[in-house]
Amino acid sequence: MKKILITGSSKGIGFALAKKLLKNNKVYGTCRNGIIDISNPNFKSFALDLTNPKSIDDFEKTIKREKINFDLIINNAGIGPDLDQELPEIETLKSTFDVNVFGTVILTEKMLDFLNPKGKILIISSKMGSLNICKLSNSVAYRMSKTAINMYAKTLSNRLEGKFEVAILHPGWVKTTIAKSNINGRLTTGQSAEKIYDFLGNNFKNGIFWNVETNSECEW
Ligand SMILES: NC(=O)c1ccc[n+]([C@@H]2O[C@H](COP(=O)([O-])OP(=O)(O)OC[C@H]3O[C@@H](n4cnc5c(N)ncnc54)[C@H](OP(=O)(O)O)[C@@H]3O)[C@@H](O)[C@H]2O)c1
Repeated sequence: MKKILITGSSKGIGFALAKKLLKNNKVYGTCRNGIIDISNPNFKSFALDLTNPKSIDDFEKTIKREKINFDLIINNAGIGPDLDQELPEIETLKSTFDVNVFGTVILTEKMLDFLNPKGKILIISSKMGSLNICKLSNSVAYRMSKTAINMYAKTLSNRLEGKFEVAILHPGWVKTTIAKSNINGRLTTGQSAEKIYDFLGNNFKNGIFWNVETNSECEW
């Protein structure tokens, strides 16, 4: 039974993924208030606010105190306050980067000490962070944050080569409440979770950027 950390598992893709992975793993889920509506002996929830350095430190202390080690860390928590908006604004740039980039990087660095040998790290990113395929002008903060986290993940995969494996995933366009337009998403959270689960079941190349909706590599 593997031990898996999933950030942002109170709703959306993270919630569906936690439920799916619980079938044969022990899952540790996080969200800001630590309240996650999953009742299962193999599930434990923790409070973690990625915008708050003290919250990240407290989470690290708890993991250390409880002597938890992970086989897989899924960095899923993310926000998109400017999704579908045309113009960049300083407030959405700051808040988006606080969660999607700074908090995610700081947490990941801290969690490396708690990753078991041959452990894996998944970064739930987005094809909206791809420079090659970007043809639109909207959602600037969100797109920039995903491009930035992709570069972090890539450098991390280079640093950890031979020790741990890192994959960057586009989870598909999914019906969640991350943005109003996601009501039209092509996948349900359950379908996206199923595809991420299948991806995890196969060995992947360290540093890969994968689109689970098309089951193919994503352009950078
Ligand atoms: N939905 C899509 O079509 C789509 C497409 C591409 C990529 N993605 C990516 O997939 C991931 C999940 O997206 P989703 O659509 O499932 O979003 P969602 O339904 O809005 O869920 C986001 C999760 O992140 C948590 N979160 C928000 N702010 C946080 C903070 N400051 N600290 C810690 N956790 C925080 C939320 O928990 P609380 O609010 O309870 O704290 C929630 O559990 C994101 O990284 C997103 O960018 C989604």
